Amino acid sequence: MTSRIFPESFVWGSATAAYQIEGAAREDGRGPSIWDTYSHTPGRTYNGDTGDVAADHYHRWSQDLDHVAELGLGAYRFSISWPRVQPGGAGRFNQAGLDFYSRLVDGLLERGVRPVATMYHWDLPQELEDAGGWPVRETALRFEEYAAGIVAALGDRVHTWTTLNEPWCSAYLGYASGVHAPGRTEPAAALAAVHHLNLAHGLAGRVVRELAPTAELSVTLNLHVIRPESDSPADADAVRRIDALANRSFLGPMLGGAYPADLLADTASVTDWSFVRDGDEKVAGVPLDVLGVNYYSSTLVRAWDGQSARSDADGHGASAHSPWVGADDVDFLPQPGPHTAMGWNIDPAALTGLLLRLRQEYPGQPLMITENGAAFDDVVSADGRVHDERRVDYLRRHIAAIADAREQGADVRGYFVWSLLDNFEWGYGYDRRFGIIRVDYDTQERTWKDSAHWYRRLVETGRLDQLPG
Ligand code: FCB
Repeated sequence: MTSRIFPESFVWGSATAAYQIEGAAREDGRGPSIWDTYSHTPGRTYNGDTGDVAADHYHRWSQDLDHVAELGLGAYRFSISWPRVQPGGAGRFNQAGLDFYSRLVDGLLERGVRPVATMYHWDLPQELEDAGGWPVRETALRFEEYAAGIVAALGDRVHTWTTLNEPWCSAYLGYASGVHAPGRTEPAAALAAVHHLNLAHGLAGRVVRELAPTAELSVTLNLHVIRPESDSPADADAVRRIDALANRSFLGPMLGGAYPADLLADTASVTDWSFVRDGDEKVAGVPLDVLGVNYYSSTLVRAWDGQSARSDADGHGASAHSPWVGADDVDFLPQPGPHTAMGWNIDPAALTGLLLRLRQEYPGQPLMITENGAAFDDVVSADGRVHDERRVDYLRRHIAAIADAREQGADVRGYFVWSLLDNFEWGYGYDRRFGIIRVDYDTQERTWKDSAHWYRRLVETGRLDQLPG
């Protein structure tokens, strides 16, 4: 008993996203999304890779769900492609698209796996971007209509509805730094996108409450753990500012019903936030059954004195387009290794700290790790297997960090490994592999990596200490 670290009730799952795995980009009435446009624009993605074919999951979904079942998982987190089910982002729904997700959901239920559906994992219908995208309010209203369509179709067969995946990326990478679709570099627009994503979340959350009252409601945030270089007041202020942009711009309205005053003050030279209308923050504060947390690595900052050389270790120099709107005087510092193939540092203790912070600030709010995992340069060995011991080590250390947080009272109810399959890693294309199952992109063959075998054993036993290696 004592060595069983996770209880039976703890939910083990894996996560994917539509554009990263489905392919079939022009089939059965699917419309274009901002990621189709962006990935087909020369110079935007590594090697010019696109999601046109990806892991061909649209055709191979049934065998992919067999892998989920063979892993013994209790839940599977996937996303619904908005342009597949409502091609123009408004009005008519595409029955063939709805039917695909209906089969997927039924396929999960038949295998005894909980469907966890994300409504928006970054693939905005291109027509909505052409009409202004997330910086305009209308997009949030369109999202409400889309949510009503998919919840009416799939309803309470979906166990958990997640409105948005990582709105931080949608807003700041999509509209400020431009390294994600739609690739715009307009700081004020990025903050307007933050708000309309918060509003969209609340509107869609209300839809779930009305149309699927027995389903659980959640949102997934990529919360940042930010540490200061020193204990100087200036560095503490740098942490506060990045925390406001990265975390509290979403946690504030979603869990507290209001934007933090310091965020509005810090960004006053960029925007007056007049796009926030009376009542919006209350809408965004729809109560959540579970808060989804995505965690990969941590962040180290210092106040920049305006003279010394900058590190800009997050890859965005002060002169380049930074996602950190209004915070040009914060410098991002390199972190000690080892790093993953993304160049991200490995810092499981920061995950424990993050979960304990959430426990303290939002007591009683159940939590779920909706993504965690690592890209490494996998090698297929002579025996045909992928001995990805660094990924196993990464997963083990982070799951142990979650166990630590649980022991200290954090109400973490589940864990979803990113990702079930190797897939299209956004701007990095197919070059970065996060799967516990390898995809051979020439043949679409799936091969369990050692991490998949390891994960199955963990799911079976609920204990980390019994596992070899
Ligand atoms: C997260 C995304 C997910 C994947 C991982 C590596 O930011 O939600 O789609 O790209 O990072």
